Amino acid sequence: MDEAKKTMLSGIQPSGDLHLGNYLGAIKNWADRAENYDCYYFMADLHTITVRQNPADLRRRTLEQLAQYIACGLDPERNTLFIQSHVHEHAELGWVLNCYTMFGELSRMTQFKDKSAAHKDNINGGLFTYPSLMAADILLYQPDYVPVGEDQKQHVELCRNIVQRFNGIYGDVFKMPEPFIPKTGARIMCLTEPETKMSKSIPEGCVFLMEKPEDIQRKFKRAITDSDTENCVHFDPVNKPGVSNLMNIYSAVTGKSIESIEAEFAGLGYGAFKPKVGEAVVECLRPIREEAGRILADKAYLEAVYKSGAERASYVAQKTLRKVYKKVGFVAR
Ligand code: TRP
Repeated sequence: MDEAKKTMLSGIQPSGDLHLGNYLGAIKNWADRAENYDCYYFMADLHTITVRQNPADLRRRTLEQLAQYIACGLDPERNTLFIQSHVHEHAELGWVLNCYTMFGELSRMTQFKDKSAAHKDNINGGLFTYPSLMAADILLYQPDYVPVGEDQKQHVELCRNIVQRFNGIYGDVFKMPEPFIPKTGARIMCLTEPETKMSKSIPEGCVFLMEKPEDIQRKFKRAITDSDTENCVHFDPVNKPGVSNLMNIYSAVTGKSIESIEAEFAGLGYGAFKPKVGEAVVECLRPIREEAGRILADKAYLEAVYKSGAERASYVAQKTLRKVYKKVGFVAR
């Protein structure tokens, strides 16, 4: 790895299928990052069991997601791609950091409050201490930047508090990470409720990366366009959120500007526009779907990828954990 490059790390929970919003909003821009950063991405399987999972589904989704990320352009030669549970240092440092994270801090996490309200029958200890494990995920690799969505910012802030507390006691052990909220990437909304973000929780308004072309077309044909009387492809996110969302999607997948899209469909109505967007999305996703399918069928290749990723990750993680164990006073084996 290039010493001069800064390091970036992010985890992805394999708890749902990837969709167009994930792709256009984030993943699409990740391939180019390897140019300037030393990048680590892992499937955060340890985190997913804070909520009950079906074991067979979790295993399948973890591998599918890895295959999909590679198909989206994340080159395993240029990025370290691994499965969290393969690198046991995550759980070990997670335990240590639990002891340097305060009950009060964990109680203030909005994700904990939301998830415990949503799963009242399973408010387990892991759900509560999840941010200490996330801090361990980060700190093992001493990254400069942690790309996360808005919803994870609070956890990165808590990680920074832990660094301050730990380094305050033991000296400079951890590098202080910065959250990295990417500015690029389109904000893709739900096709049936364009006021909310595209999400797997509303499947009819969500286009999955692995979905069949005819299903994608159907979803676009049924996409909500606005109830104004104009029936005109004009960009106005406040008054015409449905059409504007479709224009954003069309722009992101074709590279055309909003103005040129308005010109292209001048005089044509929503009925002409919607299938065109569907077609463009199908063509954009086709190579990804086909490539992900090929990768998933090649078990030996996929295994080689996650094994070599885990080896690279372990090498770095081990060094950090050894240092931490020494600092807190554990006897070296
Ligand atoms: N908590 C993150 C999420 O739910 C996933 C995650 C786990 C993560 N560990 C991380 C993200 C470390 C960034 C860094 O989306």
